[in-house]
Amino acid sequence: MRIAVIGSGYVGLVAGACLAETGNDVTCADVDAKKIERLKHNDIPIYEPGLEPLIRRNQSEGRLQFTTDVGGAVASARVVFIAVGTPPDEDGSADLKHVLDAARTIGKHTTSPKIVITKSTVPVGTAAKVRAAIEAETSVPVSVCSNPEFLKEGAAIEDFMKPDRVVVGVDSEESREVLGELFAPFVRTGNPILFMDIASAEVTKYAANAMLATRISFMNQIAEFCERVGADVRDVRQGIGSDRRIGQAFLFPGPGYGGSCFPKDVKALIHSGQELGAPFEMLEAVEMVNERQKRLLLRKVCRAFDDKMKGRTVAVWGLAFKAETDDMRESPSIPLVEGLLSRGAEVRVHDPKAVETAQAFFGDRVFYAPDPYAAAQGADALAIVTEWLVYRNPDFERLKVAMVRPLIVDGRNLYDPQRLKSLGFEYHGIGRRVS
Ligand SMILES: NC(=O)c1ccc[n+]([C@@H]2O[C@H](COP(=O)([O-])OP(=O)(O)OC[C@H]3O[C@@H](n4cnc5c(N)ncnc54)[C@H](O)[C@@H]3O)[C@@H](O)[C@H]2O)c1
Repeated sequence: MRIAVIGSGYVGLVAGACLAETGNDVTCADVDAKKIERLKHNDIPIYEPGLEPLIRRNQSEGRLQFTTDVGGAVASARVVFIAVGTPPDEDGSADLKHVLDAARTIGKHTTSPKIVITKSTVPVGTAAKVRAAIEAETSVPVSVCSNPEFLKEGAAIEDFMKPDRVVVGVDSEESREVLGELFAPFVRTGNPILFMDIASAEVTKYAANAMLATRISFMNQIAEFCERVGADVRDVRQGIGSDRRIGQAFLFPGPGYGGSCFPKDVKALIHSGQELGAPFEMLEAVEMVNERQKRLLLRKVCRAFDDKMKGRTVAVWGLAFKAETDDMRESPSIPLVEGLLSRGAEVRVHDPKAVETAQAFFGDRVFYAPDPYAAAQGADALAIVTEWLVYRNPDFERLKVAMVRPLIVDGRNLYDPQRLKSLGFEYHGIGRRVS
């Protein structure tokens, strides 16, 4: 099938590469000329495990192309995916500017019938707006469908290739058939393609992210409660997660959720609820708890120095919002580092993949260490933000020698508090008991 994917970010690139891998003829189009130039040379602008070989192979075998000519890509395609960004507007609503720009471009270059699919996360009613924007430019019949994306950065290829489910909101029997054929290779093990109406598909994406964000904020509050009463959140997590009605996933307390999706999608759903007179009080609390949680590591570090941070040196391990990505959008590392800098501390950071991204946030105000121990050198405290594998089993003796004060504030509960205590560290996890 001839496919155009508009937007070559995390979602567009993964979708384009995976659809090419299953034999389709895919053109990925983006308005960012620098990005497209790099991609043409198999130089991938983001870090996503497994993406580079997929792009290289499909490009060299002629099934995958990159272009800045969005209109040209659309003109020759039967199916067009919209995978552009939907950042939050000032009031928290999803900014549809890029989606509607893409829709107008589609309309201007449509001379044969097409199926247009919104893959970007968009509020209910967006498919209708996309249709209207296209129809303002062309009289050729166009079907507009919704196929929200559920991939996780860091495991995006696996998630796309073997999704738990594919959700597709369709407006006609023909689109249902074509999209069923397109997604069939990804659900060979029997996971479902769930066809539904477009509004339900649009809501499904927000409901999924809102539910996951809720679990995180819930566990963060349970962790705080554990600290107050001397319980250990690790035991509590296992205790509740073993209940099949609850399950183990997404019950880890941490430094607050970040990334390009949960924060903006929760905000957008809150905004939609307000507009419709059906306010999401629960999600307002989820967001408030998360905002507070994102400053928890800073509070824990500062408390250890009686709030006198001037002249202190703090090492930070991990800047990406989670492991296996270089994405720092809304990362809890940002309020931590900014808070430390504004209090006069010196900050030494390490991240296996996000240093280039971090430079856009922190410039030369922090020291970018080549390895975790170099970051800890001379530090009065070490704060761990991201659960990269490389931090899971460090050489604690080497770490202790490197640090001025062996104080660890562990935002991911990577270590055993008792063990760290016996090794001579002052250790603060999230909701853990040290006795
Ligand atoms: N990143 C994720 O993990 C993830 C997961 C599921 C869903 N989503 C959703 O998918 C959408 C895309 O997210 P992303 O993280 O890939 O965004 P991104 O910011 O990484 O990429 C968006 C790309 O779209 C391009 N673009 C903007 N306007 C354009 C236009 N008019 N024509 C062509 N290209 C244009 C930008 O240059 C950019 O390269 C968002 O709605 C997001 O909420 C993201």
